[in-house]
Amino acid sequence: MNFTRKDFPQDFLFGTATSAYQIEGHAFGGAGPTHWDSFAATPGNVVRAENGDRGCDHFHRYEEDLDLVAAAGFDCYRFSTSWARVLPEGRGTPNPEGLDFYDRLTDAMLERGIKPCATLYHWELPSALADLGGWRNRDIAGWFADFTEVIMGRIGDRMHSVAPINEPWCVGWLSHFLGHHAPGLRDIRATARAMHHVLLAHGSAIQAMRGLGMDNLGGVFNMEWADPADASPEARATADLYDGYYNRFFLGGVFKKEYPANVMEGLGPHMPANWQDDFDVIASPVDWCGINYYTRKLMKPNSDPWPSHEEAEGPLPKTQMGWEIYPEGLYKFLTRTAQEYTGVLPLYVTENGMANADVLSDGKIEDPERTAYIEAHLAAVKRAIAEGAPVKGYFLWSLLDNYEWALGYEKRFGLIHVDFDTMVRTPKASYHALKEALS
Ligand code: FCB
Repeated sequence: MNFTRKDFPQDFLFGTATSAYQIEGHAFGGAGPTHWDSFAATPGNVVRAENGDRGCDHFHRYEEDLDLVAAAGFDCYRFSTSWARVLPEGRGTPNPEGLDFYDRLTDAMLERGIKPCATLYHWELPSALADLGGWRNRDIAGWFADFTEVIMGRIGDRMHSVAPINEPWCVGWLSHFLGHHAPGLRDIRATARAMHHVLLAHGSAIQAMRGLGMDNLGGVFNMEWADPADASPEARATADLYDGYYNRFFLGGVFKKEYPANVMEGLGPHMPANWQDDFDVIASPVDWCGINYYTRKLMKPNSDPWPSHEEAEGPLPKTQMGWEIYPEGLYKFLTRTAQEYTGVLPLYVTENGMANADVLSDGKIEDPERTAYIEAHLAAVKRAIAEGAPVKGYFLWSLLDNYEWALGYEKRFGLIHVDFDTMVRTPKASYHALKEALS
C-alpha cells in the first residue's frame, strides 16, 4: 500500500465489514426462515439459486475469522445481527442460541481488542413479517424497534457503535422497484412505502437504543455518484433524479426532515397517508453518518414511465461486478455530505471495496487490482479530510469472500479468499499489504 496509518489523523479508525446472511450460515443455530431464502429458492432470482444456508460457516469459525481481523491490525469490525436468528418469527420468543451467538461474537471481538460496530439489519427479513407485507407495512417500524430492544438488550452494553439499517436505498428501491433483491417486487407503490418505512424504522430503532442508554449511534447510507451521459439538459435532469432517489432522499429525510421534490414527483401519489408527520421520528438525532461507496453511474433519458431514464455504459475501468472505478465520487460524497447535510458530525466510510476474479495458485492470491482500488479510495478520503470533511474512519468491504446476494458466491470481495467446498481461508496479497500499512 502507498500509505500507512501515519498518513491519517491519530483518531482515524480502520475496520473491515461483513454481514450476517452473507457469512454466518443461516441454516445453523435455529434461525428462522427469511425472505432471502424464498427469493433464492425461486428460479431466476439468484445465480445458480444459491442461498446463505452455509455462507462462510462463520457461525462455527468466527474465532478464526476474528483472529484474522486482529492480525491485520484493524481497530474495528463491522458485523450485522440477523433478525431471524434472534427472533425466528420476527416477533415473540427469542432464539436463545441466536442471542448466545452474538454474545460470544461480541466478547470474542473485545478479547482481541477489536471494537464491535453493529448493524441491526442487513437485509434478511424474517418470513413471518414478509407475510404481513414486510417493508410495505407501517407496523414494521414497531417490530423493528422491538427487535432492537431484544438484541441490544443483550449486547448493547458492549457495542462501540450501532447503525439500525444497512443501505436504505437497497431495502427500498433495489428490492421493491427494480426487484433485484428480496422480496423482488417491481411496484412503485410498494417502493414509496418501503422507502418511507425504512426510514421510520431507522428512527424508531435510534429512539429504542437511546431508551437503553446507548450512544454512538448512526446511519449507514449507500451512495452512487450520478453523472449525465451527455451534455444535454435532459441528461443532467436524469442524473439529478437518480441522485435524488438514490442519495438525497435518505439524507434529506434523516438530516433535513424533507424529501427531494424531483423524487416526490414520481413517488408522491404512492406515499402512505400522513407521511409528513413522521419526520420527527425519522430525524431522531444521530452521532455519525456512514457512507457505503463503490461506483458511479452515467444516466440518460428514455421513454419509459417515471423515472424515465436508464444507465449508459461508462468508459472507466471496471471491477468484476462491472462497476466503474471512480474514487473521485467518494471524495465528492464526503465533502458534499458534510457541507449540505451533516456539518461537523463525524463521517465514516462504512463500506468500500471491490470484487475481483481472484484465483488461488500455489497457495497464494495476487490481487494487485484490489490493492490499487483501496489506495485510490483512501487517497480520496485523505483529500476530503484535508479539505475539512470530518471523516473519522474507513471500513473495507469485505473481510471474506462471501454470498454476494443475487450474484451468489461467484463475486469475490474478500481480503481473504474462501474455498466454498472446504471453507479454508487464505489471506490475499491485499490483506498482507493492508496489514503492513496498519502495523
Ligand atoms: C453493499 C452491501 C454488501 C455487499 C456490497 C458489495 O451494497 O451492503 O452487503 O453486497 O454492497
